[in-house]
Formats: sequence, structure tokens, C-alpha cells
Amino acid sequence: MNKVKAAVFASGTGSNFDAIIGRSNLACEIVVLICDKPGAPVIEKAISSGIQTLVLNPKAFVSKQEYETKILHFLRKMDVEWIFLAGYMRLIGPTLLAAYEDRIINTHPSLLPAFPGKDAISQAIQAGVKVTGVTIHFVDEGMDTGPIIAQRALEVLEDDTEATLKVRIQDVEHELYPEVINRLVRG
Ligand code: GAR
Repeated sequence: MNKVKAAVFASGTGSNFDAIIGRSNLACEIVVLICDKPGAPVIEKAISSGIQTLVLNPKAFVSKQEYETKILHFLRKMDVEWIFLAGYMRLIGPTLLAAYEDRIINTHPSLLPAFPGKDAISQAIQAGVKVTGVTIHFVDEGMDTGPIIAQRALEVLEDDTEATLKVRIQDVEHELYPEVINRLVRG
């Protein structure tokens, strides 16, 4: 039986993209990478894995609506049913939210609602918290604000730097995110 089709949206390195597509028993098929940053390392990862890649510079569009409409046409053409954000550093607008209600998921490197935004790991170090973690959540119009699906906590060590903490946080997300994806897709 054919698997449900899904897209990953990413802007950067793509370690979560790799973890998702590398998961041996993934319940869906990742058919496309959508990237908003020409030149981002994740693009090469998709190409070398044979996954179709749509790279768009949002600045080339007159509005977010036009940018997302272009993406939406592409996703529909590919029969995409789920969208997984993996380091996609851009708010999702009404066009995609309406088309994929409760079908857009994000991973974030903190225990939300603490430390939303781009630099969650350095925010945690600066705040001096002893525990942080990973949150997987539904995406709404806010920044890292949608309903929480799963969280995993981890200890911040005395001598942690942003770099050392990032490695441990990403190890957790690489395991948790594909696990949650499987649960959601299987219903
Ligand atoms: C991930 O740690 C993800 O949680 C974070 O960006 C990183 C991307 O890394 N996302 C956010 O901060 C969203 N607010 P990757 O490109 O190696 O997957």
C-alpha cells in the first residue's frame, strides 16, 4: 500500500530532515523539501537523497500570500497531506494554515512556552535554567505557540555551552520528532 505523502520545510542545516528521512519505519513518505533559503545545506541533503526540492526566496514574491500559494500548488500537485517544519525559520501564514488545518507540525528546541523564537538554546543558557528540552507541537499563526503534542526534558549541565547543549537537544529531537510523526500519521 502506498504511504501517505508529506513535506518537510527547512531553512538550515537539515539534521532533523536527515533524522526524519532516515527513520527506518517512517509511516509516511517524504516527497518534497520546501526551503526558503537558497544555498542552505539541507538542499544538498535532499538532492543527494533523491527527494524533490523546491527552493523559493520569499523576497521574490510581492506578498506572503503569493509565496505560500506557489508552495500550496506544488504540495497539492504532489498529494502532500502533512507538513513537518524542521528548522523552518518563518511563520506559516493563513494560506497554508487553512489548507493544512491540524496537519502542520513543528519541532522546537525548548520546553515551550519557555524560550520561543530563533535562539531557544542560547536563551536557556542565558536564563540559567537547570532543565530544558524539546517540544513537538501543532503550528498556528504565532511563533512556536500551537498546541503541544509531546515534550522531552533534559538537564542543563553546569559546564554546558550553547554548542554542547545543542548537541544533546538535537539528539533528543532526532529521536522524538520521527516518533511523533509516526504516531500522528498512523492516527
Ligand atoms: C532545530 O533544533 C529546530 O528545533 C530549530 O531549528 C533547528 C534546526 O536544525 N527550530 C526552531 O528553533 C524553531 N523555532 P536542523 O536544520 O539541523 O534540523
